This record gives sequence, structure tokens and C-alpha cells, in this order.
Amino acid sequence: MVTKHSLIIPRVIGHRGAAARAPENTLAGFRKAAALGCTWVEFDVRLSGDDQLVVIHDATLDRTTDGSGTVGKTPLAELLKRDAGGEPIPTLDSALAELRLLGLGGNVEMKADEGREEALAAAVAKAVHRHAGPLLVSSFSWPSLEIFARLAPTIPRGMLTERLTPDWPDVASGLGAAVIACDQRHLHPDAVEGVRGAGYLLAAYTVNEPRRALELFAWGVTSVFSDAPDLILAALA
Ligand code: G3P
Ligand code: MG
Repeated sequence: MVTKHSLIIPRVIGHRGAAARAPENTLAGFRKAAALGCTWVEFDVRLSGDDQLVVIHDATLDRTTDGSGTVGKTPLAELLKRDAGGEPIPTLDSALAELRLLGLGGNVEMKADEGREEALAAAVAKAVHRHAGPLLVSSFSWPSLEIFARLAPTIPRGMLTERLTPDWPDVASGLGAAVIACDQRHLHPDAVEGVRGAGYLLAAYTVNEPRRALELFAWGVTSVFSDAPDLILAALA
């Protein structure tokens, strides 16, 4: 099988760090993922009210922190005071520094607010510019990815889509994607073969059941994002 890019990603990528084992999207979560044997972690990045990059999944603070309100309308200084499970909300810079310390690869998932796709991509491109370790930048926001591709063409990109639609090959090719990442619930062997046969790596989210992970790998899925990476790694051992 010919792959379009030289990127190598591991079988198991810790999801939001290791979300079932430590507070999601925190540096403690990265450390936990590394301790569990992960070599890569995925985490979500979005813009604060004052255009700074923070590591948090939701558009609001409510679910994962002691705060409330919209991340994209709150200045960084306020976000840094919030408690995200006994841990602060990391900035992207601090997350990248921690990856370096731990020797982890990073999948930076850009979470774009409507109308700020360009600002987000530009900020991420600037922040990852000097990062030395393995990186993949992905997004469900294809406009953000397209802008990112123009600004940082040498950094591998992952096209996120819940399910594969008929136009996926054109979109992936336009974005110069190395990885396609899909919701595992919508994958089937033909779809996996189509993606792998076209030369892309295929990652599936979110897989916490070892038996399901093994099935996906048998179909040809390259990697799974897991909240409980220890379970999947044990099944592979
Ligand atoms: O990047 C894979 C996965 O994280 C996408 O879904 O909602 O967990 O960010 P979500
Ligand atoms: Mg994510």
C-alpha cells in the first residue's frame, strides 16, 4: 500500500491526554498518558476571548472546570484562574513544552468558533512553528485546516469528519491531509479499505473497548484515539 505522506502515528493515541484516567486536556493527563505507555496524545485547542490558545474541548467552561461561560469570550487571564479537575487549563505553549519534556507526539485538534477560523489557524501555525517533536494538526473545521496548510505546509494535517461523505477524497486531497480521522461508530471495512487504498492513514475516535479496537485494526485502521489507552495497549501486547 502506498501512503501519500511519511508521517508515522502509533496504534494508540491518548484522547484528550488520557481522559478516563486523568482530567482531560491537562498536563497531568499528558503525564498519565505517557506513564500508561502512550507515545502520542491528542488534545483540543481553541481561542480565548483575547486570541490566546488554550487546551480545552468544549466551547464553554462548564463541563470541565469550576467556571462557566464561553471560552471564546473569556480573556486568558481569567481562564488561567479556572480549575480543570485540580489542574489549570493549559496554554498551547505549555502543552507543547510538556510534550517535549515527555517525548510525546502531539495531535493538536483545532476547535474553531464560527467566524474565527482564520485567527485560530494563524495562531496555531505561529505556536507550532518552532516545535521540534512529532506533530499532527487536525480539525473538523476544514476552512481552518486549509488556512493552516497554507501557513504551515510542512506540518502534517488530519482531516476530521464524523463520517465519510462521497466528496471526502477531494476534500482530503485539497487539504493535503496525511490522516483521515472518523467516528469509529460509522466505519465499516469497505470505508476503511477506501481510505487506506487511497494512501491515507486512518484514525478512529473514540475507542475504549479493546475488542472494538482489535476489530478496527483488523480492517486496516491505523490508529485509535482512546480515553483508556492502557486497555487498548494491553490488548495489543
Ligand atoms: O481528534 C479526534 C477526536 O478528539 C474528535 O472528537 O469531540 O473528542 O474532539 P472530539
Ligand atoms: Mg479532540
